[in-house]
Amino acid sequence: MNADALRAAVTPRTRVLVLNTPHNPVGKVFTAAELDEIADVCREHSLTVVTDEVYEHLVYDGTPHRTIAALPGMRERTLVISSAGKTFNVTGWKVGWICGPAPLVAAVGSVKQFLTYASGTPYQEALARMLGSVEEWAAELRDTLRANRDLLSDGLKQAGLRPYRAEAGYFLQADVRPWGYADGVAFCRELPDRAGVVAIPTSAFYQGQDAPSWLVRFSFCKREESVRAAVDQLVRAR
Ligand SMILES: Cc1ncc(COP(=O)(O)O)c(C=O)c1O
Repeated sequence: MNADALRAAVTPRTRVLVLNTPHNPVGKVFTAAELDEIADVCREHSLTVVTDEVYEHLVYDGTPHRTIAALPGMRERTLVISSAGKTFNVTGWKVGWICGPAPLVAAVGSVKQFLTYASGTPYQEALARMLGSVEEWAAELRDTLRANRDLLSDGLKQAGLRPYRAEAGYFLQADVRPWGYADGVAFCRELPDRAGVVAIPTSAFYQGQDAPSWLVRFSFCKREESVRAAVDQLVRAR
Protein backbone atom coordinates (compact mmCIF):
# COMPACT_ATOMS: atom_id res chain seq x y z
CA MET A 1 0.00 0.00 0.00
CA ASN A 2 1.20 3.48 -0.84
CA ALA A 3 0.17 5.76 2.07
CA ASP A 4 1.40 8.89 0.26
CA ALA A 5 -0.83 8.14 -2.74
CA LEU A 6 -3.76 7.61 -0.37
CA ARG A 7 -3.14 10.93 1.38
CA ALA A 8 -2.80 12.69 -1.98
CA ALA A 9 -6.15 11.26 -3.13
CA VAL A 10 -8.07 12.78 -0.21
CA THR A 11 -9.53 16.23 -0.98
CA PRO A 12 -11.79 18.53 1.07
CA ARG A 13 -14.73 16.95 -0.78
CA THR A 14 -13.85 13.38 0.23
CA ARG A 15 -16.45 11.79 2.50
CA VAL A 16 -16.04 8.04 2.18
CA LEU A 17 -13.13 5.64 1.91
CA VAL A 18 -13.83 2.25 0.37
CA LEU A 19 -11.51 -0.53 1.47
CA ASN A 20 -11.39 -4.15 0.32
CA THR A 21 -9.48 -6.65 2.43
CA PRO A 22 -8.93 -9.51 1.70
CA HIS A 23 -8.72 -8.17 -1.80
CA ASN A 24 -10.20 -9.22 -5.12
CA PRO A 25 -8.44 -9.55 -7.57
CA VAL A 26 -5.04 -9.48 -5.87
CA GLY A 27 -5.64 -11.81 -2.88
CA LYS A 28 -3.86 -9.34 -0.59
CA VAL A 29 -4.65 -9.12 3.12
CA PHE A 30 -3.95 -5.65 4.54
CA THR A 31 -1.51 -5.74 7.47
CA ALA A 32 -2.00 -4.16 10.89
CA ALA A 33 0.49 -1.40 9.99
CA GLU A 34 -1.31 -0.61 6.73
CA LEU A 35 -4.69 -0.49 8.43
CA ASP A 36 -3.23 1.86 11.07
CA GLU A 37 -2.06 4.22 8.32
CA ILE A 38 -5.46 4.12 6.59
CA ALA A 39 -7.25 4.70 9.91
CA ASP A 40 -5.03 7.73 10.60
CA VAL A 41 -6.15 9.29 7.30
CA CYS A 42 -9.82 8.51 8.03
CA ARG A 43 -9.71 10.01 11.51
CA GLU A 44 -7.81 13.11 10.32
CA HIS A 45 -10.37 13.82 7.58
CA SER A 46 -13.47 12.50 9.38
CA LEU A 47 -14.11 9.94 6.66
CA THR A 48 -16.73 7.23 6.78
CA VAL A 49 -15.28 3.84 5.86
CA VAL A 50 -17.06 1.18 3.85
CA THR A 51 -14.97 -1.94 4.18
CA ASP A 52 -15.68 -4.92 1.95
CA GLU A 53 -14.54 -8.01 3.84
CA VAL A 54 -16.44 -10.71 1.97
CA TYR A 55 -13.36 -12.98 1.96
CA GLU A 56 -12.79 -12.49 5.71
CA HIS A 57 -12.88 -16.26 6.39
CA LEU A 58 -11.01 -17.35 3.27
CA VAL A 59 -7.50 -16.46 4.38
CA TYR A 60 -4.72 -19.04 3.97
CA ASP A 61 -1.30 -19.76 5.47
CA GLY A 62 -2.19 -18.32 8.87
CA THR A 63 -2.27 -14.69 7.69
CA PRO A 64 -4.66 -12.94 10.10
CA HIS A 65 -7.56 -10.97 8.66
CA ARG A 66 -8.12 -7.73 10.52
CA THR A 67 -10.97 -5.28 10.29
CA ILE A 68 -10.27 -1.57 10.38
CA ALA A 69 -13.45 -1.20 12.48
CA ALA A 70 -11.56 -2.64 15.46
CA LEU A 71 -9.02 0.23 15.56
CA PRO A 72 -9.42 3.13 18.00
CA GLY A 73 -11.96 5.70 16.84
CA MET A 74 -12.99 3.62 13.82
CA ARG A 75 -15.96 1.53 14.93
CA GLU A 76 -18.26 4.57 14.99
CA ARG A 77 -17.37 5.55 11.41
CA THR A 78 -17.18 2.14 9.70
CA LEU A 79 -19.58 -0.15 7.85
CA VAL A 80 -18.29 -3.72 7.49
CA ILE A 81 -19.69 -5.78 4.62
CA SER A 82 -19.64 -9.55 4.35
CA SER A 83 -21.33 -12.11 2.12
CA ALA A 84 -23.01 -15.50 2.27
CA GLY A 85 -21.82 -16.05 -1.28
CA LYS A 86 -18.19 -16.14 -0.22
CA THR A 87 -18.44 -17.42 3.37
CA PHE A 88 -20.68 -20.37 2.47
CA ASN A 89 -19.63 -20.79 -1.17
CA VAL A 90 -23.10 -19.99 -2.54
CA THR A 91 -22.16 -17.18 -4.92
CA GLY A 92 -25.52 -17.16 -6.69
CA TRP A 93 -27.43 -16.27 -3.52
CA LYS A 94 -26.45 -12.60 -3.49
CA VAL A 95 -27.16 -12.19 0.20
CA GLY A 96 -24.83 -10.56 2.67
CA TRP A 97 -24.80 -8.45 5.79
CA ILE A 98 -23.49 -5.15 7.06
CA CYS A 99 -22.31 -4.31 10.57
CA GLY A 100 -21.84 -0.80 11.87
CA PRO A 101 -23.24 1.93 14.09
CA ALA A 102 -27.05 2.21 13.96
CA PRO A 103 -27.27 5.54 12.05
CA LEU A 104 -24.99 4.28 9.26
CA VAL A 105 -26.78 0.93 9.03
CA ALA A 106 -30.10 2.81 8.85
CA ALA A 107 -28.73 4.84 5.94
CA VAL A 108 -27.78 1.65 4.13
CA GLY A 109 -31.29 0.30 4.78
CA SER A 110 -32.80 3.40 3.16
CA VAL A 111 -30.60 3.07 0.09
CA LYS A 112 -31.46 -0.61 -0.21
CA GLN A 113 -35.15 0.25 0.10
CA PHE A 114 -34.99 2.67 -2.83
CA LEU A 115 -32.69 0.62 -5.05
CA THR A 116 -33.46 -3.11 -4.95
CA TYR A 117 -36.12 -2.95 -2.19
CA ALA A 118 -35.80 -6.54 -0.99
CA SER A 119 -33.42 -9.46 -1.19
CA GLY A 120 -34.26 -13.16 -1.60
CA THR A 121 -36.13 -13.63 1.68
CA PRO A 122 -35.83 -17.46 1.85
CA TYR A 123 -32.07 -17.12 1.37
CA GLN A 124 -31.96 -14.61 4.22
CA GLU A 125 -33.81 -17.05 6.48
CA ALA A 126 -31.39 -19.83 5.55
CA LEU A 127 -28.39 -17.57 6.04
CA ALA A 128 -29.58 -16.49 9.51
CA ARG A 129 -29.44 -20.17 10.53
CA MET A 130 -26.15 -20.87 8.78
CA LEU A 131 -24.41 -18.02 10.56
CA GLY A 132 -24.63 -20.06 13.77
CA SER A 133 -22.06 -22.49 12.35
CA VAL A 134 -19.95 -20.08 10.34
CA GLU A 135 -16.65 -21.24 11.87
CA GLU A 136 -17.13 -24.94 10.92
CA TRP A 137 -18.28 -24.06 7.41
CA ALA A 138 -15.48 -21.62 6.86
CA ALA A 139 -12.78 -23.99 8.13
CA GLU A 140 -13.79 -26.68 5.66
CA LEU A 141 -14.11 -24.27 2.76
CA ARG A 142 -10.74 -22.69 3.61
CA ASP A 143 -9.01 -26.10 3.47
CA THR A 144 -10.63 -26.94 0.13
CA LEU A 145 -9.74 -23.59 -1.40
CA ARG A 146 -6.19 -23.62 -0.06
CA ALA A 147 -5.63 -27.01 -1.72
CA ASN A 148 -7.15 -25.69 -4.96
CA ARG A 149 -4.98 -22.59 -4.83
CA ASP A 150 -1.85 -24.70 -4.43
CA LEU A 151 -2.94 -27.03 -7.23
CA LEU A 152 -3.57 -24.13 -9.58
CA SER A 153 -0.44 -22.25 -8.58
CA ASP A 154 1.80 -25.32 -9.09
CA GLY A 155 -0.01 -26.10 -12.35
CA LEU A 156 0.49 -22.60 -13.71
CA LYS A 157 4.19 -22.87 -12.95
CA GLN A 158 4.30 -26.25 -14.71
CA ALA A 159 2.55 -24.64 -17.66
CA GLY A 160 5.33 -22.06 -17.80
CA LEU A 161 3.33 -19.08 -16.47
CA ARG A 162 4.33 -17.05 -13.39
CA PRO A 163 1.66 -17.08 -10.67
CA TYR A 164 1.75 -14.61 -7.78
CA ARG A 165 0.98 -15.75 -4.26
CA ALA A 166 -2.67 -15.27 -3.21
CA GLU A 167 -2.97 -14.89 0.56
CA ALA A 168 -6.75 -15.09 0.48
CA GLY A 169 -9.91 -15.22 -1.60
CA TYR A 170 -10.85 -17.04 -4.79
CA PHE A 171 -8.29 -15.79 -7.27
CA LEU A 172 -4.66 -15.64 -8.23
CA GLN A 173 -2.76 -13.52 -10.69
CA ALA A 174 -0.33 -14.84 -13.26
CA ASP A 175 2.23 -13.13 -15.44
CA VAL A 176 1.63 -14.30 -19.02
CA ARG A 177 4.81 -12.90 -20.55
CA PRO A 178 6.60 -16.28 -20.47
CA TRP A 179 4.07 -17.44 -23.08
CA GLY A 180 5.11 -14.54 -25.30
CA TYR A 181 2.18 -12.24 -24.53
CA ALA A 182 2.73 -8.66 -23.33
CA ASP A 183 -1.02 -8.18 -23.26
CA GLY A 184 -3.34 -10.11 -20.93
CA VAL A 185 -6.36 -9.18 -23.04
CA ALA A 186 -4.94 -11.01 -26.09
CA PHE A 187 -3.94 -13.95 -23.88
CA CYS A 188 -7.49 -14.20 -22.44
CA ARG A 189 -9.06 -13.95 -25.91
CA GLU A 190 -6.94 -16.82 -27.22
CA LEU A 191 -6.87 -19.05 -24.13
CA PRO A 192 -10.32 -20.72 -24.60
CA ASP A 193 -9.30 -21.93 -28.09
CA ARG A 194 -5.75 -22.73 -27.13
CA ALA A 195 -6.40 -24.55 -23.83
CA GLY A 196 -10.16 -24.70 -23.17
CA VAL A 197 -9.59 -22.49 -20.10
CA VAL A 198 -10.91 -19.01 -19.34
CA ALA A 199 -9.17 -16.20 -17.43
CA ILE A 200 -9.81 -12.46 -17.01
CA PRO A 201 -7.26 -9.74 -17.82
CA THR A 202 -6.35 -7.96 -14.57
CA SER A 203 -6.41 -4.66 -16.49
CA ALA A 204 -10.24 -4.95 -16.50
CA PHE A 205 -10.12 -4.00 -12.80
CA TYR A 206 -8.24 -0.74 -13.43
CA GLN A 207 -9.59 2.68 -14.35
CA GLY A 208 -6.36 4.48 -15.20
CA GLN A 209 -3.53 3.92 -17.66
CA ASP A 210 -1.28 2.19 -15.13
CA ALA A 211 -2.79 -1.30 -15.38
CA PRO A 212 -0.30 -4.19 -15.35
CA SER A 213 -1.16 -5.38 -18.87
CA TRP A 214 0.80 -8.64 -18.47
CA LEU A 215 -1.33 -10.01 -15.61
CA VAL A 216 -4.42 -12.18 -15.79
CA ARG A 217 -6.71 -13.48 -13.06
CA PHE A 218 -7.47 -17.18 -12.65
CA SER A 219 -10.15 -18.46 -10.27
CA PHE A 220 -9.74 -21.51 -8.02
CA CYS A 221 -13.23 -21.60 -6.42
CA LYS A 222 -14.07 -24.69 -8.48
CA ARG A 223 -14.31 -28.42 -7.88
CA GLU A 224 -10.89 -30.02 -7.50
CA GLU A 225 -11.41 -32.07 -10.66
CA SER A 226 -12.13 -28.88 -12.63
CA VAL A 227 -8.93 -27.26 -11.38
CA ARG A 228 -6.99 -30.44 -12.24
CA ALA A 229 -8.50 -30.55 -15.72
CA ALA A 230 -7.67 -26.87 -16.30
CA VAL A 231 -4.09 -27.41 -15.18
CA ASP A 232 -3.67 -30.47 -17.47
CA GLN A 233 -5.02 -28.50 -20.41
CA LEU A 234 -2.76 -25.51 -19.68
CA VAL A 235 0.30 -27.74 -19.42
CA ARG A 236 -0.59 -29.42 -22.74
CA ALA A 237 -1.19 -26.02 -24.39
CA ARG A 238 2.17 -24.64 -23.31
C1 LIG B 1 -14.51 -8.06 -3.04
C2 LIG B 1 -15.90 -8.49 -3.37
N1 LIG B 1 -16.94 -7.87 -2.78
C3 LIG B 1 -18.21 -8.22 -3.04
C4 LIG B 1 -18.51 -9.23 -3.91
C5 LIG B 1 -19.95 -9.57 -4.16
O1 LIG B 1 -20.37 -10.62 -3.34
P1 LIG B 1 -21.81 -11.29 -3.56
O2 LIG B 1 -21.62 -12.39 -4.54
O3 LIG B 1 -22.21 -11.79 -2.24
O4 LIG B 1 -22.72 -10.26 -4.10
C6 LIG B 1 -17.48 -9.88 -4.57
C7 LIG B 1 -17.79 -10.95 -5.54
O5 LIG B 1 -17.02 -11.35 -6.38
C8 LIG B 1 -16.14 -9.52 -4.29
O6 LIG B 1 -15.10 -10.14 -4.87
